[in-house]
Amino acid sequence: MGGSSPFKDQNKQHSTTTTTMTTFFSFWRFLPYTIYAILPMALFRVYFYPLPVPQSPTDRLPRSDHILVAPSLSSPRQAEKPGGDAVTEAPPPPCDYTNGKWVPDKSGPLYNGTTCGTIKDGQNCIAHGRPDLEYLYWRWKPRLCHLPRFQPTKFLQLLRNKNVAFVGDSMARNQLESLLCMLSSVSDPILVYRDGEDNKFRKWNFPGHNMTISVYWSPFLVKGVEKSSSGPDYNKLYLDSVDERWAGDLGSLDMVVLSVGHWFLHPAVYFEGGSALGCHYCPGLNHTEIGFYDVLRKALRTSLKALIARTRASGRVTDVFVTTFSPSHFEGDWDKFGACPKTKPYQEGEKPLEGMDAEMRKIEVEEVVAAKADARDFSGIRLEALDITKLSLMRPDGHPGPYMYAFPFADGVKDRVQNDCVHWCLPGPIDTWNGILLEAIKRWNGGEMNRLSLDLAR
Ligand SMILES: *[C@@H]1O[C@H](CO)[C@@H](O)[C@H](O)[C@H]1NC(C)=O
Ligand SMILES: *[C@@H]1O[C@H](CO)[C@@H](O)[C@H](O)[C@H]1NC(C)=O
Ligand SMILES: *[C@@H]1O[C@H](CO)[C@@H](O)[C@H](O)[C@H]1NC(C)=O
Repeated sequence: MGGSSPFKDQNKQHSTTTTTMTTFFSFWRFLPYTIYAILPMALFRVYFYPLPVPQSPTDRLPRSDHILVAPSLSSPRQAEKPGGDAVTEAPPPPCDYTNGKWVPDKSGPLYNGTTCGTIKDGQNCIAHGRPDLEYLYWRWKPRLCHLPRFQPTKFLQLLRNKNVAFVGDSMARNQLESLLCMLSSVSDPILVYRDGEDNKFRKWNFPGHNMTISVYWSPFLVKGVEKSSSGPDYNKLYLDSVDERWAGDLGSLDMVVLSVGHWFLHPAVYFEGGSALGCHYCPGLNHTEIGFYDVLRKALRTSLKALIARTRASGRVTDVFVTTFSPSHFEGDWDKFGACPKTKPYQEGEKPLEGMDAEMRKIEVEEVVAAKADARDFSGIRLEALDITKLSLMRPDGHPGPYMYAFPFADGVKDRVQNDCVHWCLPGPIDTWNGILLEAIKRWNGGEMNRLSLDLAR
């Protein structure tokens, strides 16, 4: 396996030196139309990816039989009784975490900016003076089951001696930092490695449990060259080559959480089989516009295939999660005062999952289902979609907005101010993602019976 992992080669410098956040914003600046933020997503989609939009995209969502199932309600298949009596009792209806509502919850977060030292500046909303704090007091209530509060000790116990990796873009990092902060409430992580440049690759150790958590910067999962000030102002993606900066380490990883999406919206040229396949938003270049949906699909497929193949070859057991697309909540210009002004979640049914959010999620879920089918005969890999798109869509109140910077209105309210309506405040709604992650891990580690039911359910 490739040796190009940054963790193996600590002197390696990475071509891009900007942080994710500045990359995000320079993207917007660089696109004079700031299409990403100004136009409603539906328009964006129609203009740059003119495929027919189904009347009701949710009608076409894949059935939820692949979705995380609550352990309490999807009891493992009962052991056969001696004598081989068949179990006749009908299984209880499956319960998934994807549909539900946000309900008020007084208990509040497990951490704050004082107790957790790993919150990225731009997401440290309370420390930056965000005045309303109601967004911290909600709990996700799935329609048919109960999502327990995150149990840090349980997580540490279940992943004792394991190496966990979050791989992807800044949303992967956002989720990782949420997890680290929640775990910090019972055990302090020790930073054991950081990329010299911009923290794109970091590793922590929880010595009490000999658990390691790493984050790998890989916004396309496949090999890519990010646009830069010195090079082309578009990304290059090589859709048939997995990014070795993370995949090269698969031989030592026990659990991998993949999380990508937003970087696929950027201008890019795509390569496959050694030649250019097309591009997305590349006026002036002699390439065919092909949008980014199929590109995301191919990138995921390449990555999941590599995961399966390398896990097979290594003889290890690897658990793989794909976090689905995280919706942003811009209302109008991204640099306008009040770009994501809501201070409460949407009610159930108030905000349909549609357009680009629905399409990105669907592609990710479908690729996980396809990968499961691919690995059907192989028990060394477990795959699941961490389907957080809908519950996140319902949290327009959870973003830093102007509080990506400290005290943005110290000199009075300004008309123009940068807003982050993409990432999530820490603490915040993203903590729920890890609550669901833990439930899935609990189910997988529920013993042989659970394993059996999972295998049968494939
Ligand atoms: C953070 O949490 C700790 C422990 O729960 C608490 O003592 C402290 O007052 C909190 N700090 C802030 C700024 O809320
Ligand atoms: C710590 O975990 C690693 C695997 O991640 C394992 O190889 C090692 O033996 C563990 N150490 C102890 C002391 O259990
Ligand atoms: C654009 O690409 C086409 C097909 O690859 C080629 O025939 C044509 O010469 C190219 N045009 C320019 C200006 O490069």
